[in-house]
Amino acid sequence: MRVILFTGKGGVGKSTIAAGTAALAAAGGRRTLVLSTDAAHSLADAFGCEPGSIGAEPTEVAERLFVQQVDAQLRFEQSWADIQRYLLSVLDVAGVDPVAAEELTVIPGAEEVLALLELRLHARSGAWDVIVVDCAPTAETLRLLALPEALGWYMHRVFPVERRVIKALRPVLSRAAGVPMPGDSVFDAIERLHSELEEVRELLSGPDASVRLVLTPENVVLAEARRSYTTLSLFGYRVDGVVANRVFPAEDADDWRAGWVLAQDEVLARVDESFAGLPVWRSEYRPREPVGVASLSGLARELYGDSDPLARPTGPGPFRVTRSHGAATMRLALPLVTRAEVHLARNGDDLVVTVGSYRRLITLPSGLARFRVAGARVEQGELQVRFVEDPNETGR
Ligand SMILES: Nc1ncnc2c1ncn2[C@@H]1O[C@H](COP(=O)(O)OP(=O)(O)O)[C@@H](O)[C@H]1O
Ligand SMILES: [Mg+2]
Repeated sequence: MRVILFTGKGGVGKSTIAAGTAALAAAGGRRTLVLSTDAAHSLADAFGCEPGSIGAEPTEVAERLFVQQVDAQLRFEQSWADIQRYLLSVLDVAGVDPVAAEELTVIPGAEEVLALLELRLHARSGAWDVIVVDCAPTAETLRLLALPEALGWYMHRVFPVERRVIKALRPVLSRAAGVPMPGDSVFDAIERLHSELEEVRELLSGPDASVRLVLTPENVVLAEARRSYTTLSLFGYRVDGVVANRVFPAEDADDWRAGWVLAQDEVLARVDESFAGLPVWRSEYRPREPVGVASLSGLARELYGDSDPLARPTGPGPFRVTRSHGAATMRLALPLVTRAEVHLARNGDDLVVTVGSYRRLITLPSGLARFRVAGARVEQGELQVRFVEDPNETGR
């Protein structure tokens, strides 16, 4: 099964391209699901369906082609809020500073969690050859994709402590007025959610999944796409292509359009340069909105041309560790940044990598815990961190 995610700035054509790619896959004989995680659902519009005719269950719009718009369910959101409120009250009783407590219990947006869980269910069902995900605009997508790992970190580092603290305090707390005492079921629920999200993370960072960036040839849009490329890589996702959408055709242009063609050409040259090594597929600005299965698959057919729209990403993958006696090198794809823009810190068994406002806590493979960081560099779009064995470190 192949999973392809589309993201990019608002309005650039994510839904159109996602829907087109899915329509093409279905036309090629694949059982295909396209689902949107963007609260501003526009898949129904792209397929030209009646508003309301596409909902929270997969709806067949053409042979082998199903569409679903994942919706936040209030019930889920509320039970999540309950858990958080509970944890806060307990940490308060335990004397944890309220600001720190707030931080410890910040749990990701319910809507996003729900979308990821939906994806997991579909991936496990065995019903699909291809799942295309029409994502929310970049920032939200990044939040979404950082989520499973962030929760994983919380589960490994904070949650066991919380659980222990609560267990120890239970006799005291149950006597204190006003503190609700949940059974183990609350913790079990959180643990189950965690393992499910970890599965999603494995799926999305694995060899069958990739992210495609959609952009229009404008400087502001390109700037955002470049940042997303860096950040997606930071979080360990494979970007395997770029779609330049709404490119003005050059033929028979009047002065106004000729001006745009020229301006877009300049940006397109920078797009090719920015994403060197990745395919940059171009899609013309159509005289009208591409709506409906036929129109969308036509657009996708032109977009991908001779290349296989479902090809799996190639290359060594975004994250690797190689070892040689007494030393090791960790490599992380990190395109479009200089060493100066990357901040590294060691925190126990974690390596904290910060780029701009995004931070990833990479749990070092066991065995590297005894190593210290000997140096780091950024070379050809890759962060390379060198570790050497440290006789003073005993490991924990
Ligand atoms: N290549 C294109 N030519 C003409 N119109 C397009 C093209 N791509 C997208 N559109 C139109 O642009 C609008 C925004 O596209 P959409 O796919 O909804 O963007 P997003 O999902 O990124 O917000 C829609 O009305 C869509 O029909
Ligand atoms: Mg959209």
